[in-house]
Amino acid sequence: MNILSPSILSADFWRLGEQIREIERTGVKYLHIDVMDGLFVPSISYGMPLIASLRKHTDLFFDVHLMIERPERYVKDFAESGADMINFHIEGTDQIGETIKAIRSYGKKVGIAIKPGTPVEEAEPYLDLVDMVLVMTVEPGFGGQKLIPECLDKVVLMRRMVEERGLSTDIQVDGGIAIDNAERAVEAGANVIVAGSAVFKNDISVNIKELLHKMNK
Ligand code: DX5
Ligand code: ZN
Repeated sequence: MNILSPSILSADFWRLGEQIREIERTGVKYLHIDVMDGLFVPSISYGMPLIASLRKHTDLFFDVHLMIERPERYVKDFAESGADMINFHIEGTDQIGETIKAIRSYGKKVGIAIKPGTPVEEAEPYLDLVDMVLVMTVEPGFGGQKLIPECLDKVVLMRRMVEERGLSTDIQVDGGIAIDNAERAVEAGANVIVAGSAVFKNDISVNIKELLHKMNK
């Protein structure tokens, strides 16, 4: 079964608790939480206090996507705020190995993320050290963008690398995923699918049902 990870970046924050309950009722188990610092990406989103607050109310798996410079500075804070998995961009640090170790030292799952312009080979040396690789399918920073088709070619290459090594590393895609391309993302080799605007527009339950159907044919 491929996994859907709804990104709350597109939620209605006035009704966030309610919308998370609706996600739980669909049976989805992941929640994708995008953290932006205004440096690694132009925008600023939210951080530890939001995660800590949500953590008190839900057992969903918190898939935290750090779009921040020098993520090593904040591993402890995000681990303690209640992340289940911490994904950081390898472009944002020169301490990739150390950051992976630090995340593990808190007993959390680890993901490394790459932007559209970063070749998959740059993630290669770390594949056996992480639980997931996040292949961005838009430039990180904003929800509601269109998927860059060439990024799915990178997913194909990444899936090949993982298989050649006999690994079980998850491959996540994030950005511009909707009903009309979720199936293509899975075919390319992704097994964890992030969707923000495609989940939170109109009827959340209907959107999730349709996405899951496309993803798990
Ligand atoms: C973008 C974020 C995404 C975003 C995806 O930088 O990493 O997780 O929420 O939003 P959609 O699915 O609307 O492209
Ligand atoms: Zn994200």
